Amino acid sequence: MTEPTALIVGASRGLGLGLARELLARNWTVIGTAREVNGSALKKLGEAHPGRLRVEALDVNNEAQQRALKSKLGGTELDLLFVNAGITDRAELADISQQAFTNVMLTNALSPVQIALALRENLRPGGTVAFMSSRMGSIAEMEVGNSAVYRASKAALNALTRCFVAGVGAGTFTVLTFHPGWVRTDMGGPNAAVSIEDSVRGIADVLERERGSGKHKFLDYQGNAIPW
Ligand SMILES: NC(=O)c1ccc[n+]([C@@H]2O[C@H](COP(=O)([O-])OP(=O)(O)OC[C@H]3O[C@@H](n4cnc5c(N)ncnc54)[C@H](OP(=O)(O)O)[C@@H]3O)[C@@H](O)[C@H]2O)c1
Repeated sequence: MTEPTALIVGASRGLGLGLARELLARNWTVIGTAREVNGSALKKLGEAHPGRLRVEALDVNNEAQQRALKSKLGGTELDLLFVNAGITDRAELADISQQAFTNVMLTNALSPVQIALALRENLRPGGTVAFMSSRMGSIAEMEVGNSAVYRASKAALNALTRCFVAGVGAGTFTVLTFHPGWVRTDMGGPNAAVSIEDSVRGIADVLERERGSGKHKFLDYQGNAIPW
């Protein structure tokens, strides 16, 4: 059997880079994207895995770069498309500027789903599309209002992932909307509860377990369901 192929969008650092490492260790072939390719940790990881990790440039909000990536992929067949890139904003609701709102919404909600739509023809039948969301986007659990625009952007991402499934047809792909845990990355900070290694190991286990199910689920890195 040939090695499965994954495209990880937003793999320059943090969880995306960790996931690239984890999938390589599990014998996947990986294509990872970074906004700045030259000098990146991802490029160094690629040099350590010749022929198994290819690095491409992508700012998720740049539609010309989205098209360029699609054209560079050509007929490459993917078993997994994992859209991980995201930003945070910790402003209180009363302090959110329209510009910050627009940027966080575009980066965290619209761009990930635009990329999935653009690249869906590269996915093998029965392949997996995964989106890095957050438990903070669960409307059912939203009882506090900190980081309001970040929460709203992940709730919007969750809504758009459901629209994505409706658009491509339920069962066409396995679609996983993930909460990675509160993880020690630049975004999660040093006091977060979970290491990058534990989070991505759990995510990779869930990806393997759910492979081919054709379902759409909102799951944490340990495979527990999260209410929408
Ligand atoms: N850490 C946590 O506790 C936690 C919890 C729940 C959800 N998440 C989600 O997990 C994902 C990864 O977070 P992380 O903790 O690994 O954060 P991180 O260390 O801040 O990394 C963020 C990643 O997203 C990329 N990115 C941001 N804006 C981008 C853009 N416009 N185009 C392309 N790439 C872009 C960054 O690339 P650059 O290096 O170019 O900036 C970087 O690779 C995010 O979606 C985040 O919301 C994280």
